[in-house]
Amino acid sequence: MSNLQDLQQLAENRRSVYALNDNLPVSKDEIVKMVEHAILHTPSAFNSQSTRIVVLFDQDHNKLWDITEETLRDIVNNDEQFASTKQKIGGFRAAAGTILFFEDQRVVRNLQEAAPLYADRFPIWADHTSAMHQYVLWTGLASANVGANLQHYNPVIDNKVSETWGIDDHWDLIAQMVFGGIEQPAGDKEFQPVEDRMKVFGK
Ligand SMILES: Cc1cc2nc3c(=O)[nH]c(=O)nc-3n(C[C@H](O)[C@H](O)[C@H](O)COP(=O)(O)O)c2cc1C
Repeated sequence: MSNLQDLQQLAENRRSVYALNDNLPVSKDEIVKMVEHAILHTPSAFNSQSTRIVVLFDQDHNKLWDITEETLRDIVNNDEQFASTKQKIGGFRAAAGTILFFEDQRVVRNLQEAAPLYADRFPIWADHTSAMHQYVLWTGLASANVGANLQHYNPVIDNKVSETWGIDDHWDLIAQMVFGGIEQPAGDKEFQPVEDRMKVFGK
């Protein structure tokens, strides 16, 4: 297979996997190295390197989902209405770990001051930068047979997350990627027609 076909195969293997367990097919060190590699080699707007990542395994991962459950339970304030959310969060807790993606707002503000012309763009580009890190790690995890799904319980969990893991005030939580052994792979996916979604000119 060509490099491109290899890359495309890896891209196809990346799916949202929700039925996860804590039986990782690779070591925790390999996951940590994957994150280090993503931090170094993923592009960022203006080479700002604004992405910050926290990896939670085992008890720390469980703690995140305890925090999320408690926070949402307090908001919903009704056990019956909360039952399906509780079950969903239990599914995340059953996984092996969670990667927390942050963007350092101090870096964003410095860029805004240095290049005022783009001031309103930098927060958006920081989100794009985070998304690139998310994608490369999601695909990287899939390549190692580690299932993952992407969650967004920020901002309601932000304060407790910062308190619990001593996160810098300037780090803004963007997304949570749950990962683990694959209990059940993702089902089929529906695709909207490619021709409605792209145009080619001058070929
Ligand atoms: C920007 C973005 C945000 C997403 N947010 C969530 C989310 O909050 N919760 C969730 O379960 N899935 C989330 N997803 C996963 C999508 O629902 C999923 O990627 C899509 O349905 C396609 O399925 P696939 O990942 O299996 O290819 C998100 C995906 C993207 C790209």
